Amino acid sequence: MDKLLIQGGVSLKGEIRIAGAKNSALPILAATLLTHDTVKVCNLPHLYDITTMIELMGCLGVEPIIDEKLNVEINSSSIKHFNAPYELVKTMRASILVLGPLLTRYGQAEVALPGGCAIGSRPVNLHISALQAMGANITVENGYIKASVQGKLKGAHIFMDLVTVTGTENVMMAATLAEGQTIIENAAREPEVVDLANCLIAMGADISGQGGDTIVINGVDELHGCTYAVMPDRIETGTYLIAAAATRGHIKVKDTQPDILESVLSKLEQAGSEIKIGENWIELDMHGQRPKAVSLRTAPYPAFPTDMQAQFTALNSVALGSGSITETVFENRFMHVHEMNRMGASMRVEGNTVIVDGVEALMGAPVMATDLRASASLIIAGLVSENETTVDRIYHIDRGYECIEEKLQLLGAQIRRIPS
Ligand code: UD1
Repeated sequence: MDKLLIQGGVSLKGEIRIAGAKNSALPILAATLLTHDTVKVCNLPHLYDITTMIELMGCLGVEPIIDEKLNVEINSSSIKHFNAPYELVKTMRASILVLGPLLTRYGQAEVALPGGCAIGSRPVNLHISALQAMGANITVENGYIKASVQGKLKGAHIFMDLVTVTGTENVMMAATLAEGQTIIENAAREPEVVDLANCLIAMGADISGQGGDTIVINGVDELHGCTYAVMPDRIETGTYLIAAAATRGHIKVKDTQPDILESVLSKLEQAGSEIKIGENWIELDMHGQRPKAVSLRTAPYPAFPTDMQAQFTALNSVALGSGSITETVFENRFMHVHEMNRMGASMRVEGNTVIVDGVEALMGAPVMATDLRASASLIIAGLVSENETTVDRIYHIDRGYECIEEKLQLLGAQIRRIPS
């Protein structure tokens, strides 16, 4: 297994480009199953999760064509199977996103039931109950969700008990080809849901209300092909900005979208960063100062994203003062805390809150990544450590960050990959 070796103590400086958003690219790839026409998806990030989704398409009998710029053309008319096997679902829970498209387009789908993961139990009951409300017959047998429908799915009025991002996306995709109108209440408002809706609209879907908590979808007979560019990754953007703030640096991130990062940018300002924004760039300057600790609470968009709390925990670990970070979306998302304490951080978990007393610097240590965003936080911790840190199990980071060590090297970091 590859490891990352980090020699800490360097302030990040320079410019990098942000990749397409993983959490938008995955549902958009799944949405290509909704038409027999060719859909061209551009600005896909180079990530392991994207490769897994393309592999899943291959299992269904669909052969995506990838060009040298990693634009992918998908024509699903060659589809032969309707089954997402456990081997793929266990490496990527977002495989569940093929359930809605397969069911609504082909009347059948079998998707392995995703298990719990490092950050909590993560059930998919809301995906299932919403599709059942639309007329699907769904059973869970031998670890598989087996779904079918006679004729078409029927539009329904669905109230989501909890705000679920992929749940909203699955139902929205299913509803595009259902008979009649579907209303999703308490829908996720995440920008990636909006990006998916915009792609579906470009394919001929009738959707309104995306970005708000009520989404209305009027089913159409068929969707058609289109060319669609995935939006920039707000989590990747935020991760580099937090790394720069933690290391007292000065960086500019380009090809991003500042208006969907408000909650994160406001916390970075509270931490003492000077932030300038343009249409598609953000510049952060700490003027060489130590960051100030911040307190935050995660919640669905537009509140502070759960995918960014671990990185702020790393920032707080070397900040001036104390900050508390409360996680309300997932039940067990503090695995990084114990690793950071091994690096000399002063943190304690109380229920769903971690209280961090900032120390002057961390001490490098061998640490182990446990999930995608925790891995990013351990890299930031390595960057603010006085000596060498090795981060093990970095396959987690390769799932969601494109060329992370190369981008950090561009910003001056002393980081390299040690192949296994
Ligand atoms: C998506 C993102 C992930 C992000 C998360 C929350 C993708 C591919 N992944 O994950 O990066 O951290 O949103 O912003 O977009 N829940 C249920 N039943 C369900 C569905 C969800 O109880 O049927 C619960 C979950 O356990 C969790 C909460 O709802 O506590 C939110 O989860 P959800 O928004 O569904 O996360 P994902 O869509 O899996």
